[in-house]
Amino acid sequence: MPAHRLEARGLTLAYEARTVVEGLDLVVPDGRVTVIVGPNACGKSTLLRALGRLLRPVRGAVLLDGAELARTPTRRIAQRIGLLPQSPTAPEGISVADLVSRGRQPHQSWWRQWSAEDEAAVAEALERTSTAELAERSVDELSGGQRQRAWIAMALAQGTDILLLDEPTTFLDIAHQVEVLDLVRRLNVERGRTVVAVLHDLNQAARYADHLVAMRDGRIVAQGAPGEVVTAELVREVFGLESVVVPDPVTGTPLVVPGAPWAVKADA
Ligand SMILES: Nc1ncnc2c1ncn2[C@@H]1O[C@H](COP(=O)(O)OP(=O)(O)OP(=O)(O)O)[C@@H](O)[C@H]1O
Ligand SMILES: [Mg+2]
Repeated sequence: MPAHRLEARGLTLAYEARTVVEGLDLVVPDGRVTVIVGPNACGKSTLLRALGRLLRPVRGAVLLDGAELARTPTRRIAQRIGLLPQSPTAPEGISVADLVSRGRQPHQSWWRQWSAEDEAAVAEALERTSTAELAERSVDELSGGQRQRAWIAMALAQGTDILLLDEPTTFLDIAHQVEVLDLVRRLNVERGRTVVAVLHDLNQAARYADHLVAMRDGRIVAQGAPGEVVTAELVREVFGLESVVVPDPVTGTPLVVPGAPWAVKADA
């Protein structure tokens, strides 16, 4: 059996008294793109934060190569797992170049200062996210989409083989959404990166995921290949929405077309 690098076992997650996720088991397929979908407040970000050790489990554990994340030094984790949170906040006045450079921090120490390798990783991250021309700008004064790409660049510069991305396409126009998702796919195929992303767009999720995880109320309702998971029944069960699922005309993956929109009746 292949070793699974990132895994949640019997994971219970809570904020003080509010339990959000209970007894969740998840094996993140190594070297694949996993996409988590589900309604607002169902626990997607909470789960992702636990997978990146930003949240300590109440019960159960997250395992990285069989070792409990909670017992692994932060720096070791930062060298292995990159996490882009849903609403990251940047230090005031920081430039894009400086923000992206911070992604290299886990690779530095008193005996290993800024190197040519760090420089190259930052330059590549800026280039791949089309943020090179923004490098000297202050993060505060960017548009929502520009800022989002700067954060993605920081996560890329970290150079980890596991990337956790919470709604990486928010604020992005359709062309930049496709650019970011194509980039994620390329990182996966060319560099063997393991990706776990939360996405709201089911059709994009179906296009880009190898493994799709549908959540509701802190539980995994279904998981597997998008072609098997995304059905009208699932969309009804998870989102309470009537829809028709047809093959995507470009990729053949499931395309969810919501039921007819509300309209003024002609005879009303
Ligand atoms: N820091 C926090 N303190 C207390 N409750 C929280 C905190 N963060 C999230 N919650 C609660 O936990 C539940 C799950 O939130 P979470 O952010 O994981 O949802 P989500 O699935 O990512 O939703 P969305 O699609 O809106 O991003 C929600 O009820 C939310 O109010
Ligand atoms: Mg969220």
